[in-house]
This record gives sequence, C-alpha cells and structure tokens, in this order.
Amino acid sequence: MDTQFANNRYDGRMPYKYCGNSGLLLPSISLGLWHNFGDADDQIVARDMLIYAFDHGITHFDLANNYGPAPGSAERNFGRIFKEDFNSYRDEIIISSKAGHEMWQGPYGNGSSRKNLIASIDQSLQRTGLEYFDIFYSHRYDGITPVEETMQALVDIVHQGKALYIGISKYPTEKQIEAYKYLTSHGVRCLISQYCYNMLDRKIEEGNLEAADSYGSGVIAFSPLAQGLLTDRYLNGIPQNSRAARSTGFLQRSAVTPEVVAKAISLNEIAKRRGQTLAQMALAWTLRDRRMTSVIIGSSSVQQLADNIKAVNNLNFQNEELEAIENILKQKE
Ligand SMILES: NC(=O)c1ccc[n+]([C@@H]2O[C@H](COP(=O)([O-])OP(=O)(O)OC[C@H]3O[C@@H](n4cnc5c(N)ncnc54)[C@H](OP(=O)(O)O)[C@@H]3O)[C@@H](O)[C@H]2O)c1
Repeated sequence: MDTQFANNRYDGRMPYKYCGNSGLLLPSISLGLWHNFGDADDQIVARDMLIYAFDHGITHFDLANNYGPAPGSAERNFGRIFKEDFNSYRDEIIISSKAGHEMWQGPYGNGSSRKNLIASIDQSLQRTGLEYFDIFYSHRYDGITPVEETMQALVDIVHQGKALYIGISKYPTEKQIEAYKYLTSHGVRCLISQYCYNMLDRKIEEGNLEAADSYGSGVIAFSPLAQGLLTDRYLNGIPQNSRAARSTGFLQRSAVTPEVVAKAISLNEIAKRRGQTLAQMALAWTLRDRRMTSVIIGSSSVQQLADNIKAVNNLNFQNEELEAIENILKQKE
C-alpha cells in the first residue's frame, strides 16, 4: 500500500511504502553513502546532499562499515553531519549499516561470522555516534559461515537494542530462504532484502524477488542507475569527474561499452517522450514492480539528487512503453 505523509521539513511529494509485511514506511527513494561521502570527497557537497534529501522526503540513509574511502570514513562523516544538522530529527530518520565485506585486516575483519558482525556493529555505532541503527544487514553470504551463525548474530543484535530491524544483502535464493526461515523461527523477521536491480541487471527476477515476497520481506534495490550507466552521464564519452573516470570509483571504464551506451541512447528517447530524464525513467522502471519497497540511489551533487527525486512525479508506465524498453534491453551486448 502506498501512502503519503510529511515530516516537518518536507515539501510534500515523496511516496512512502510499507516495507514488506511490516509497519515500517520507507520512502520510494533512499540515499546511499557508498560513494561521495568518504574522506576523499567534498564534505560541503556531502552535507548539502543529506540536507536536500531530507528536505525532499528522503528519510532513509544507507551506510556500511566499509564505505569511504578510507573504509569507515562515510560512517564517520555521516555521524558528524548528523550531530550538527539532524540530531533533533533522529525519530524521523531510518539509518542502516552493514557488515560482511573486508573492513579491517586480520582474520575477523571480513566475512559473515558472529565475531565480525558483533565487533563491526559496535565500531559502526562508535563511528556514527548513534545509539542504535534502524536496520542492520548481513552485507553478504560469504560462502562459508553457516547461515544460522550469521542470523543468530543478527537476532542477538536486535535483542541487545543495537538495531531495530535486520536485513540481508545479496544472498543467493537458497541461502536467502534459509535465512528467512531461521529468523522467523527465532522471533525476529527479516525486514528487508537488499539486491542490485536495474534495467541492465535483472538477476533478482530469477528467484530473490519471489522469495522475499513469499516470506514478507521488503526489497530495496541498490545501484538502480547502474552506477550512472542509466543516466545521461556517458552518452557523449566518459566525463573526467565521473565515477568511471575516478580512481576511487567502483565503476570501471571498461563497463562503458559502445553497446551499453547505444542502449542508454535509445532508452533516453523513450524517457524524453515520457517527459523524464533517463535517470528518472530508470528509477521509475525499478519501482514499477509492486514487490519493490524503495530504490537506494547514489549522487555526486545536489543537482543529480534533485533530478532523481523528480522521478516520483511519473512512476506509471503504459504497456507500449514497457514493451519498447524490453526490446531495447534484449538487444545483444
Ligand atoms: N548491498 C550492497 O552490496 C551494495 C552495493 C552497492 C551499492 N549499495 C548501496 O546502494 C547505494 C547506491 O549505489 P550506487 O551509488 O551504485 O547507485 P546508482 O544510483 O546506480 O549510481 C549513482 C551514481 O550515478 C551517477 N548519477 C546519479 N544520478 C545521476 C543523474 N541524475 N544524472 C547523471 N548521473 C547521475 C553518479 O555518478 P557520478 O559520480 O559519475 O556523478 C552517482 O554517483 C550505495 O550508496 C549503497 O548504499 C549496496
């Protein structure tokens, strides 16, 4: 069910949706701090983006222990800005963090063991200065740690009051279902499942979406703009300040292939006919599935954020538009 409401700094347009089978509302657009909030980034822009986001109805910010660079610096910078600008709004904001990818050296700074998760949430709380996270995730299934070990650590984290809800990210379908079952039988349901989903990456349509839906977990899509490939960023080459060009970015230059750019150019024509930018249409497309609770976008400027938030002005598609998009996506890479 969709609903609308306003926090007291909000101008009134963002839709909110219940996260799976829970009572928690999330905004259709959330903001992620993977890139652009580390020590290597402009802190004034970072602060401006957080304030702009909140003022336009984005009440959910997504972190992880290793976001930076340097790892940990996104949490620390978020914590500083939060203390200065958002302290009185704690009850109006949903903050998530995660553990599971390499964070510190040695045998316990990586993976999904109980040791790593419990140590990591304490470090993340310390870096952000928060008393609790709203959502804490297992960032990945590591291929070794039994799912019960990771899930019991999450259950204990909730019982210790360090997180209100828990989530899983990138779990393969079989392990995802195992996690849901363990959690349900231990009294702490999985609120949310975080996966990559966009027009260029649709793997979750093969099982993860259906599994989440049948166990009542919400789904939140990361990289809904395919790290910028589904925007106008690369339509005319690789700009110097873009993620693909920057040494600290996770998008490789080699991902900007002529085939991907050709698809983006064709998709951009459909977006124009809808009166949208390509970024806005890409977000609307990811949100078209009723099982999708929210998309977590990244932005490197307030201008991009403003562009992306306007996606909510047109979230509906005609069948012909969806077919035309499918035809473009089917073209061989
Ligand atoms: N669970 C996981 O394992 C996982 C993995 C990845 C991400 N995440 C989460 O998902 C969040 C979002 O991921 P993402 O940053 O890859 O998302 P994304 O929204 O697909 O990509 C964001 C990038 O696209 C470009 N962009 C955004 N809006 C634009 C616009 N309107 N016009 C032109 N370019 C635009 C910017 O790149 P430029 O720098 O080139 O301007 C921006 O940094 C992360 O911050 C994180 O919270 C989670």
